[in-house]
Amino acid sequence: MVLDIFDKRRSVRKYKNEAVEREKIIACLEAARLAPSACNSQPWRFIVIDEPSIREKACEAALKGIVGINMFLRDAPVVVAVLSRRKIYLDILGKYFRKTDYCLTDIGIAGEHFCLQAAYLGLGTCWVGWFNGGALKKELGLGRLVKIEYLITIGYPADIRCEKNRKQMNEIASWNRDGFRR
Ligand SMILES: Cc1cc2nc3c(=O)[nH]c(=O)nc-3n(C[C@H](O)[C@H](O)[C@H](O)COP(=O)(O)O)c2cc1C
Repeated sequence: MVLDIFDKRRSVRKYKNEAVEREKIIACLEAARLAPSACNSQPWRFIVIDEPSIREKACEAALKGIVGINMFLRDAPVVVAVLSRRKIYLDILGKYFRKTDYCLTDIGIAGEHFCLQAAYLGLGTCWVGWFNGGALKKELGLGRLVKIEYLITIGYPADIRCEKNRKQMNEIASWNRDGFRR
């Protein structure tokens, strides 16, 4: 059941010292490639960093000036930089007419497809939204047309946490009217 995979997926921040097979990462990328997007714009780009020396430098850059959190990045066998390559007309439509950011929505859906496929394959992932994007962009030599929106770490889980801390159903969903408890 797909729901079982959704339940199985959780943020993993401790990884076994074990390489991740590229075929498995390619399957995750394929899952992301199939994601829907506004006007089918497919604004996502993924840079998979699995070469240890490149990964080490990339993580050093990503953690520059970051204090206290996300140090687990250093120990992840693979780090994926999730980039956006925006379409100007969609940004204008979204920002001025709907006050929304379609591109970030698209990136989120594709990224989660990636993570869910990883969970299906027995891999652990963690979204990382707090990092030094400027320093990492420089380290990876990326041009001005792209932005690193998120990182996703991936590897075989070393910690098996079971709890899933979520709001109750009646706090997040309502039928036919605004029935949320205040
Ligand atoms: C957009 C986004 C950014 C996140 N950034 C971080 C982060 O910088 N560091 C981190 O440890 N976890 C990060 N997380 C993971 C969340 O903390 C985690 O998904 C949440 O606590 C729920 O736990 P679960 O994923 O295990 O179900 C992020 C998740 C999302 C969706």
